[in-house]
Amino acid sequence: MATWKEKRKIMQRYDLTAEMYDERYAEEQRRKYCETLREIDVTGKVILDVGCGSGLLFGQVATKAEMIVGVDVSRNLLAKAKVNGRDFGNVFVVQADADFLPFTDGFFIVVFAFTVLQNLPKPALTLSELWRVVRLEGLVVVTGLKKAFGLENFMDLLENSGLRLVSFVDDDSLNCYVAVLGAA
Ligand SMILES: C[S@@+](CC[C@H](N)C(=O)[O-])C[C@H]1O[C@@H](n2cnc3c(N)ncnc32)[C@H](O)[C@@H]1O
Repeated sequence: MATWKEKRKIMQRYDLTAEMYDERYAEEQRRKYCETLREIDVTGKVILDVGCGSGLLFGQVATKAEMIVGVDVSRNLLAKAKVNGRDFGNVFVVQADADFLPFTDGFFIVVFAFTVLQNLPKPALTLSELWRVVRLEGLVVVTGLKKAFGLENFMDLLENSGLRLVSFVDDDSLNCYVAVLGAA
């Protein structure tokens, strides 16, 4: 129960700041997407964007991907995501908690979670939930906010996940580490 209280606080904080999210963070987030999409081809893939926020990622992948589902706890950010995804025809948004994704095992080919894990009380548990909804040959992309994790903690989290580290980016221009994970 304490866990949900923490999550609700975070949800309320994002609801309150939704209006200024893009103005504050769009550029920073787009740099992370660019770095990541150098490593991953999303063409024809079924994608989940966990903690999708206002849907900034949609514009970068929707024209190539088969389908994108955005999931977030913040209703106000999701309202923006819905607008951002409207014109593509293959973007859907759902309000849900990253730790309890309302999808069957192995439904997606790629799961992204950009700048999300620092909000979750048990990131290791969240990571295993992200992996649950990916196909065996699929990939999970997570970023670790540097000021929340630190390199050692983030690497521990990745190593203890039992997944294979496909690629890792630690670039000075990004405030996150970017990790791509696949089946061991
Ligand atoms: C820093 S924002 C990143 C948003 C987006 N990924 C981006 O690249 O702009 C973190 C997002 O995680 C969402 N979030 C926080 N806790 C969550 C949870 N338990 N389940 C799903 N989303 C959550 C927030 O509402 C917010 O949209």
